[in-house]
Amino acid sequence: MKIKLSKAFRFTTLLICISTTTAQEITLNVDMKNSIAKIQPTMYGIFFEDINFAADGGLYAEMIKNRSFEFEDPKMGWTEPNSEKYYMNTKSGFAHVTRYSGVNTNRNYVSIKVEDEQGYSLINEGFRGMGIKKGAHYNMSLYAAIGEGNISKIKIAFIDADGKDLGNTSISIRGSNWKKYDTVLTPTITEAKAKLSITFQGTGTVNLDMVSLFPEDTWKGRKYGMRKDLVKLLDDLDPGFLRFPGGCIVEGRTLAQRYQWKKTVGPLADRELLINRWNTEFAHRPAPDYFQSFGLGFFEYFQLAEDMEAEPLPILGCGIACQFNTGELVPLEDLDPYVQDALDLIEFANGDIDTPWGQVRNEMGHPEPFNMKYIGIGNEQWGSVYIERYKVFEKAIKAKYPNMIIVSGSGPAAEGDYFEYGWKELKKLNAEIVDEHFYSSPEWFRENAARYDTYDRNGPKVFAGEYAAQSVAITSPDNKNNWECALSEAAFMTGLERNADVVHLTSYAPLMAHSEGWQWTPDMIWFDNLESYGTPNYYVQKMFGTHRGTDVLSIQENGKPLTGQHDLYASATKDTDSREVLIKLVNTSDKDQTLNIDFKGQKLADSGRGLVLRANNLEEVNSFEFPKKISPQPSEVALRKNKTKVVLPAYTFMIIKAKME
Ligand code: AHR
Repeated sequence: MKIKLSKAFRFTTLLICISTTTAQEITLNVDMKNSIAKIQPTMYGIFFEDINFAADGGLYAEMIKNRSFEFEDPKMGWTEPNSEKYYMNTKSGFAHVTRYSGVNTNRNYVSIKVEDEQGYSLINEGFRGMGIKKGAHYNMSLYAAIGEGNISKIKIAFIDADGKDLGNTSISIRGSNWKKYDTVLTPTITEAKAKLSITFQGTGTVNLDMVSLFPEDTWKGRKYGMRKDLVKLLDDLDPGFLRFPGGCIVEGRTLAQRYQWKKTVGPLADRELLINRWNTEFAHRPAPDYFQSFGLGFFEYFQLAEDMEAEPLPILGCGIACQFNTGELVPLEDLDPYVQDALDLIEFANGDIDTPWGQVRNEMGHPEPFNMKYIGIGNEQWGSVYIERYKVFEKAIKAKYPNMIIVSGSGPAAEGDYFEYGWKELKKLNAEIVDEHFYSSPEWFRENAARYDTYDRNGPKVFAGEYAAQSVAITSPDNKNNWECALSEAAFMTGLERNADVVHLTSYAPLMAHSEGWQWTPDMIWFDNLESYGTPNYYVQKMFGTHRGTDVLSIQENGKPLTGQHDLYASATKDTDSREVLIKLVNTSDKDQTLNIDFKGQKLADSGRGLVLRANNLEEVNSFEFPKKISPQPSEVALRKNKTKVVLPAYTFMIIKAKME
């Protein structure tokens, strides 16, 4: 009896325990001679959005929240435990936020008055605490200017919840002009919830701004850089592209809150802070302290893509605010500045250093172009308002940069009126790549493994730009990154791969989530301030991404691809560089299944290797405690005369690799 996963899900443990090998054996034929399609190097990539504290509080390694006092409540993130004495008239000191005179993107600084040098301290709470490691080095910097009085030293210390000192240092300060000071802090213990305290020697006033703290050990050791563990997880995926900066964050809830890339480049202190549109999007997961400092801005995204040898794929707003929110529209006749942003971005990425925007890139330390080839126009827009605006962008971009590949969008859903309309119109325009998004049940993913088999081979190519199986329902806070979701995505991905002539780019979404600061679940990678781990979905992505191959091969049972018959799914590729054949097999049933695989057209070595991803039950997840509970395990695969017999365990994703002689 065929048991649907959704039912099995309810009594999974029992079903797993009684799983047995079926008597029926299935024969699959692999044609290694004929390449059905080339697989694009961009086939498996990364979708990055600053949601769930993915940038500030996450990938961007800054540990001070509201470092420049620019939040709507300029003291958010900061406390003054001893200033209440001030209100009781036994003053020890206090801080107030002051505006710079004149127009400035960095509008505020904090002015501190110390009345009793024993008492006053200013404390930053970090992003749900600060994760510090014993003996590691942390680079601290701040700008200071002294007012009246005799303040000459600032003591900086990591403290715990009780105020206990966990490692300190001090900075001597001089002069009434703004100056930058740097020092290094070394914690005496490892602590996940540390805070940073700043106290003063002397009394009087002192002004502070851009109070910043980074681990020294960042990705590639860059100052003001990114969290090494998180970038490593991304790099290990061997991504073909990096899409940034989102997602709905591109659009903003209103046009004023849209992502404007020009405000995210240049000196850090001049990047204008913006509210994060996920800040209060979901009443069930409010994050009023979520802002974008843009320390991780467009230059850093391009640099990250370059580090990972991934194609940069920026997505720009097209003059429509998020249609789930205000849907605010820029009238067509006022669209020029938005279009100019797109043209200038191409110049920023690729232009000579004597062009205005190429020069900005050069000043940031990257004279060579980033060789950007793709640009996305609009995220999840729909209706005629999108098509009208897309046309304007397309015309202007192609006129100036005819080789730039433009990614357009088909709206927020995988089917329905908006989707149909978007595709119909984009086809008429000969659009090059159309972005599709699907957040659906695990069943949907299993049932849609043949989705692209019937797509028009002569139409636009597909970017499956955001997808993830939802264990409960879209935007439900109860969704889990469980094995049923990951396994169903693997089944679906065999369909993406079989159709690599149509599907040119794919990415799971969202990418990352802080375990205490998230708004949206499921997510591919979870982290706190000290640790991070990949979910089962991460390992599915990694297995596909690191075994993509160069050519799609036919793998069939009785002349048909496996798209769910016997609850089995399969795709095959070969890699003409490493001279390997790569078979991906997914068994979503509760029974072990025996497969005879017959490789034709090319002699293979007599032994192969396997990589197996499976779990003991469908509800299983990875966690901080057991980060690799579900992770790929190697196995041996015997081959004889170009044939092999494998028993594919229940609920398993497996890759078989064999060398072509
Ligand atoms: O990935 C989360 C959100 O889902 C993205 O911002 C948006 O594009 C989609 O609706």
